[in-house]
Amino acid sequence: MNVLVTGGAGYIGSHVVNVLKKEAGFTPIVYDNFSTGHPEAVADDVQLVEGDIRDIEFTRHVMAQFEIDAVIHFAASSLVGESMSDPAKYYVNNVEGSLHLLQAMKQSGVDYIVFSSTAAVYGEPEKTPICEDFATQPTNVYGRTKLVIEGMLKDYAMAYGMRYVALRYFNAAGASLTADIGEDHHPETHLIPLILKTAQGVRDRVSIFGTDYPTPDGTCLRDYIHVEDLATAHVLALKHLVGGGESRVYNLGSEAGFSVREIIETAKRVTGVDFAVTEEARRSGDPAVLVASSEKIRKELGWQPQHSTVEEIIKTAWKWHQNHPHGYNG
Ligand code: UFG
Repeated sequence: MNVLVTGGAGYIGSHVVNVLKKEAGFTPIVYDNFSTGHPEAVADDVQLVEGDIRDIEFTRHVMAQFEIDAVIHFAASSLVGESMSDPAKYYVNNVEGSLHLLQAMKQSGVDYIVFSSTAAVYGEPEKTPICEDFATQPTNVYGRTKLVIEGMLKDYAMAYGMRYVALRYFNAAGASLTADIGEDHHPETHLIPLILKTAQGVRDRVSIFGTDYPTPDGTCLRDYIHVEDLATAHVLALKHLVGGGESRVYNLGSEAGFSVREIIETAKRVTGVDFAVTEEARRSGDPAVLVASSEKIRKELGWQPQHSTVEEIIKTAWKWHQNHPHGYNG
């Protein structure tokens, strides 16, 4: 089965490609425009096609050329802050891009899609842990675009017989166990890579955004999930669809919340570096607590996170950062 992985040169996509290529019966074909992805993140033995999901003609051509049977769709813009200052970019890249991808699938007779969604579709939750049937009220444009795409998937599935699994990630973190691929964003905005860059001396301090949240230590709680565990969930989702399973929406998290201070303390312990930390005002749009219930995918697909202790997440990310202090460029 040939699987087109859009955004397969990105952080999560590249980990999924590595897991997929080891699965008997699946061949990943990476489709990426390299706006944020890295060709170096794709192994030499994986077919790599430079292209843009907004280009229906070319996407259709690629689907025919590689006899694509299924799609795993990561290609998107994903910076929450930028989505608020430049919503047009997010509607074009995410919504229009996904619509064109679905059109190409429909015209090519490709019926299965696993979609990279986000916890940001929920917005500020009424209670935790968050289940899939909770209200979806995104508080930022990024989350709103992902929710619109989930709606498109539902409509296409209903009308044209496609089937999909939408995976709502909580905080993806960590790096491959072999430390050959990892997180390399420009600009970097995520907590764990920023902390590790500080431990390395590439940055001079870590800022805690907000210490007055209604949480035990006043800082935000997040549900960190190892990128390798996310990757196995995508393969399970694909097998579910290919095996005749119905369309589904699943949360992916570890079901435990860790505060910003706890992450910093763990990182100091793992790295052995006592780096500088400053306390600053809240970052706008950050909910106090985001913790998933992942019971649904555990029960239905048998997903079992293997690497999602905060220690292992930070250890694997630290190894990647040590091997690649400047990301893929050095
Ligand atoms: N934080 C800091 N200092 C920093 C960076 C982050 O204190 O320098 C805090 C944030 O305020 C937040 C926590 O660390 O409380 C985690 O922040 P990240 O930026 O690492 O992750 P987010 O929880 O903001 O974002 C994640 C995903 C997004 C998704 C969002 C859903 O990375 O893709 O959850 O709300 F949209």
